[in-house]
Amino acid sequence: MGGTLSIHNTTSIPHTFTSVATGSDGHRLFDVTIEGGQTKTVPAVSTLRDGTYAFFCRFHANMTGTLTVGAGGPVTTSPDFEQPLTLPPRLHGKDIKIVMRKAKVRVLPHGPLTPMLTFNGSFPGPTIVRPTGSNTHVTFVNRLPRSVGAVTIHQHAGHQKSKFDGQPDSHLIRHGKKLTYDYPLRDDGKPLPAALRFYHDHRMDKTARNNWFGLQGMFLTTDRREAKLGLPHGKYDLPLMVTERTFRADNRLTNPFTKMAGMGGGPGMETFGDQVLVNGRYAPYKRVRPGLYRLRLFNSSLFSSYDFALSNGRPLTQIATGSGLLPHPVVRQDILLGPAQRADVVVDFRGQRGDDVQLQSVLPTQGATNGVGLMQFRVRGNPAPRARVPINLATIQHYKVPAKVAKTWRFGLNDHQHWTINGKRFNPRRVDHKVVLGRTERWKLVNTSPFTHLVHLHEELWRTLRRDGHRPPPWERGYEDTWRLDPGESVVVAARFTDFTGRFMIHCHMLDHEDDGMMATFEVVKKR
Ligand code: C2O
Ligand code: CU
Repeated sequence: MGGTLSIHNTTSIPHTFTSVATGSDGHRLFDVTIEGGQTKTVPAVSTLRDGTYAFFCRFHANMTGTLTVGAGGPVTTSPDFEQPLTLPPRLHGKDIKIVMRKAKVRVLPHGPLTPMLTFNGSFPGPTIVRPTGSNTHVTFVNRLPRSVGAVTIHQHAGHQKSKFDGQPDSHLIRHGKKLTYDYPLRDDGKPLPAALRFYHDHRMDKTARNNWFGLQGMFLTTDRREAKLGLPHGKYDLPLMVTERTFRADNRLTNPFTKMAGMGGGPGMETFGDQVLVNGRYAPYKRVRPGLYRLRLFNSSLFSSYDFALSNGRPLTQIATGSGLLPHPVVRQDILLGPAQRADVVVDFRGQRGDDVQLQSVLPTQGATNGVGLMQFRVRGNPAPRARVPINLATIQHYKVPAKVAKTWRFGLNDHQHWTINGKRFNPRRVDHKVVLGRTERWKLVNTSPFTHLVHLHEELWRTLRRDGHRPPPWERGYEDTWRLDPGESVVVAARFTDFTGRFMIHCHMLDHEDDGMMATFEVVKKR
């Protein structure tokens, strides 16, 4: 067909008009941003084949619709899956050294390598693999270009001294310097629950930029008892870091952060990418055997959420959050994960020999058949060893929680269009709440803004007590570190404050929001 389509944005905030489907090169068939009150034409529309095209707004995932071109009909597009899935190098020692430096890495299947800021030369950085409960020292050395400035490393969902928690504006690693972080991997003398945690830069105002350019890696704590449960393990346990970036024609990453200078933050400044990577590669494939696999799904994007599903319609059996095993498995058709959220699932490829199965991201409003393909599993060969998912996975400690909410944190927007917590932007010199070491507190997190946020609490093993006044869904009944809060939503959480005094962070893990000031400090203090 021919013709043009123009879109008028009658609101005062930006929206995008983005196709769900991508071409075989992974780019969206159409994708335009329309500022508040503006009109834009969508150039690509004139070249679309007849079909029905689902579209959505990247900023507001609940704004969706369909565009019918010509006679309409189903549109199927998917990437070519040209390169194998890779797993980052693994580091197992008690004393680990990681050098941060600029390096060229293979991300896209064709053309030049992509220069990135890396941990030890790879993206994602090396996966740190440690038995839970064993002391681990990681020395991070800053050999990044001088222009990057100082960095700071946070072990997300870890439990460590305040000075080793990745303080945004103190205990920094300056250019040419290093810092050894102590990770005891214990809480109150007991091993932390085994889980897929991760490590990333946390520098004030620069976290989005530093993560975009590559400072992200996985941190896997293991527990031998998990293998005894019969869960798939070893080669049948695949951590998958899913994230998106935008590339220039020469395969370099775009730099979306220059536009930020002097423009303030607020809605519409969020960073998304137009190609989704799994373990640092665009649209990889993995040969698997007919059998059970544990996939550790991890969204490390700056802003976007993915609603994970399998193209064969089989369910994902969720067994863990990013902070440990759930009490019981939960069978789910799709799993929505926002930035920093993780979910361990068991998938079943039995009886699928010869099939190609995609891991997709679908929109909640659509069927699982027309999602975006993120990676492909090629089911081939002999059956995988037997594995199973037991009904009882873990016991969550149900200690007593005071009935009274000790602190309410409200996530909102101020009159100057900046993201805030309780009306304030982040200030590293201000402490927003004090907690006495050894106490248990009940906190309430409330989203008072018209946008979704992903709220992350540092340091403790958090439990979700209520979501919107009700018992949380079964997949939120384990330990948790990051909660999705849609507009108007609230959760009530609790933790025991153990082992360490000092300052820790609470923030939105949409990294542009964090950098814009949607972050606050709580301090654990000794009883006087
Ligand atoms: Cu993963 Cu404070 O962040
Ligand atoms: Cu946010």
